[in-house]
Amino acid sequence: MNSEDMYEIMKVKLSRVVPDVELRYKAEIAVEIEELKKQRNAVILGHNYMEPALFHSIPDFTGDSLDLSRKAAQTDKDVIVFCGVRFMAETAKILNPTKTVLLPSSKAGCSLAASITAEDVRGLKKKFPGVPVVTYVNTYADVKAESDICCTSSNAIAVVESLHTDTVIFLPDEYLAKNVARESGKHIIFPSTTTVADDAETGLDYQLIGWRGRCEVHEKFTVEDIQTVRSQFPDVLILAHPECSPEVTTAADFSGSTNAMIRYVQESKAPHYLLLTECAMGDNIAAANPEKDMLRLCMVRCPHMNMITMEDTRDALKFNQYVIDVPEEIRVKAYRAVERMIQIG
Ligand code: 13P
Ligand code: SF4
Repeated sequence: MNSEDMYEIMKVKLSRVVPDVELRYKAEIAVEIEELKKQRNAVILGHNYMEPALFHSIPDFTGDSLDLSRKAAQTDKDVIVFCGVRFMAETAKILNPTKTVLLPSSKAGCSLAASITAEDVRGLKKKFPGVPVVTYVNTYADVKAESDICCTSSNAIAVVESLHTDTVIFLPDEYLAKNVARESGKHIIFPSTTTVADDAETGLDYQLIGWRGRCEVHEKFTVEDIQTVRSQFPDVLILAHPECSPEVTTAADFSGSTNAMIRYVQESKAPHYLLLTECAMGDNIAAANPEKDMLRLCMVRCPHMNMITMEDTRDALKFNQYVIDVPEEIRVKAYRAVERMIQIG
């Protein structure tokens, strides 16, 4: 395909969201990427947070982290290029280790994944022997390897409930844990290194043991933001990712994973929508649903997701960078936790 044809295809979805001058520039890069994709027998997975021109052009599959894990596990291509962040690319490698997995930026991390180490998990297991460990996929492979089962925002409650135990260690997102606790009716405690023994002795009726990790994007949205937007647009429908605080998810009209939010907007008929999540997703929904009026709250952005550009994706395929590897002894243990989650759905 030449860049003129690519431009025409991209224009159909993107003309109201991306100005022509950028569309023409990105169409040229998209053509290069398509060619490299064929040469390398590669598949491109694009998370819902990718910027609109990338999201609506080069990925073979788009979706939330659970969805893309499944696609990574199923692919028979030689190379998986993950347009997302490091923990997502690592999960792809854990599930499909014989493939070359590439992350277009070496610096695309995540504040949640950075909030906890494998040593921290070992410490918690020592303090709470026999209590199952549920780990959010937004963690690195060595943390997953210490866990009994992983979860994503779309299946966290089902995963916790599948364990049929009174007490569960749920790591590392404080707000996701609180949202899960609220919806599943469980209590939650946050042990510190000094107070755990005391808590245990006082016989607290705790059921979820959390950690103080936060998403640096979602923690910033406030109930006041919601009230301010509602006073300006009384008929707005507000959707919040469960990495937002429980006060925010309660004040919103709906809370769910990035895929769940996309579906909810598609199936609703409100005059205006506001997503409390990475702002590029609003652009992507607006591009795919021209009849929906998406308000944007873009003062908070995910710096990690925004590191993934079309230029870097082209270079990833061209120069085989940045290769994601997971040591085999860690991978095998992490695989058990991720695969157990995938079985649940
Ligand atoms: P989803 O699993 O809902 O796509 O969320 C991933 C993420 O990083 C949200 O910030
Ligand atoms: Fe991590 Fe938050 Fe960025 Fe998602 S939005 S990748 S949780 S920092």
